[in-house]
Amino acid sequence: MGENGLGKNQGGFTSSFGAIAAAAGSAIGLGNIWRFPYTVGQNGGGAFLLLYIAFVFLLGVPIMMSELALGRRSRQDAVGAFHVLAPRHRSWMFVGFWGVLTTFLIYSFYSVVTGWTLDYVVLSCQGGLADKSPAEVSQAFTDFSTGTFWPILYQVIFLVLTALVVMLGVQKGIEKTSKILMPVLFVLMLLLCVRSVTLPGAGEGLDFLFRPDFSKLTGTAVLSALGQAMFSLSIGLGVLITYGAYVRKEDNLFKTSVIIASADTLIAILSGIAIFPAVFAFGMSPASGPSLVYEVLPNVFNSMAGGQIFAIIFFVLLSIAALTSTISMLEAVVAYVMKRFHMRRVPAVICITGLLLVTGIVCTLSFGPLSNVKILGQSIFGFLDMLTATYMLPLGAIGIVAFMGWYYAKSEARDELTNGGLLKARYFSVYYFIMKYLAPVALLAVLIAGIFGFGG
Ligand code: PHE
Repeated sequence: MGENGLGKNQGGFTSSFGAIAAAAGSAIGLGNIWRFPYTVGQNGGGAFLLLYIAFVFLLGVPIMMSELALGRRSRQDAVGAFHVLAPRHRSWMFVGFWGVLTTFLIYSFYSVVTGWTLDYVVLSCQGGLADKSPAEVSQAFTDFSTGTFWPILYQVIFLVLTALVVMLGVQKGIEKTSKILMPVLFVLMLLLCVRSVTLPGAGEGLDFLFRPDFSKLTGTAVLSALGQAMFSLSIGLGVLITYGAYVRKEDNLFKTSVIIASADTLIAILSGIAIFPAVFAFGMSPASGPSLVYEVLPNVFNSMAGGQIFAIIFFVLLSIAALTSTISMLEAVVAYVMKRFHMRRVPAVICITGLLLVTGIVCTLSFGPLSNVKILGQSIFGFLDMLTATYMLPLGAIGIVAFMGWYYAKSEARDELTNGGLLKARYFSVYYFIMKYLAPVALLAVLIAGIFGFGG
């Protein structure tokens, strides 16, 4: 493999399954299992879910195809791609840079939740949540997350683990890990769902998730649905431009994107099915925010035979999903830094991880000692979560859409998406219409509605 993994086809993924597994690994993560349920919960359920699905397939898939195409065309990182593909207009590089910055900020707060997840693996192995009442389970989460030593320790372990995989490089690290872990994840998730829908009172939760009530849709909810769709697909940032650079020339980017988006949506819905029945069965609030999964699920496990085993399986699964996502975030930032500062892989990984230790720990402390620090009424963690997913991501997506739909030559886009004319790609005109008209209008409308709070 080329040191930076960006040389021709060498150094990239070795098969289309490897590429799909890696990109799906990036997409499927805490975004599906932690963030999706709590965002659905805060935004009223069914109607939000419908919008979410519409955003994933109408905007998400074309944007994902575009990112993969830009990466594969240029064989560059998120910033380098714009440098190479728009050599006479350097300002496009800002779109890539914006993505790298957003990715870094996302990783900062995301790493907090990876730390919680590891802690819950350990806790469930020890049986530490068994036999606790729902109130005690919530208290245990609060006690842990507002602490300093343990949440930071687990967060650091996770950051180091991610760094080690990324140091190994594209084939040895990213592809191998994803190929093994993604199928395991899916099977474990199914298992958990089967368990959950058989809980007494499952119906109300399923109702909440699947029966749309459009009166609950505010401008902010629509923007959150868009942001969540992008967050969950890992698009709008150039993470998939980075991965696109490792994808083989003969892979079908349309198929790849549809498969990834479908798998990602399936896992999100499955985790909704695993969580909402329990929320209602235990009389909890679906709108309780980032702690939702961690406060609700231990009660489910406690109420089932063999619950401890299921708990261990679930939190291991969540850690796996999170790891394949943090790998992609770190890789995207590292690929940029390697190019920009002419660094080798290992020192680049060490530098970025060092910086993340600082920003990540600040985010962890914002639940405890720094909980008094408020930005626009939110904790540092809450602010970063909202800033990146709800605002920075859709803005980044607008940049990518503008580039593809209005700047980059249509013939080049067609050439890359059809593998030089080898694929029929009857969808191309629909794709191009979306990139040129539908996506920019929809993204702008949703951003404006969300920012100015139309509809309540
Ligand atoms: N999509 C990942 C998830 O759902 C999170 C992620 C966001 C990964 C942005 C990479 C870039 O957990």
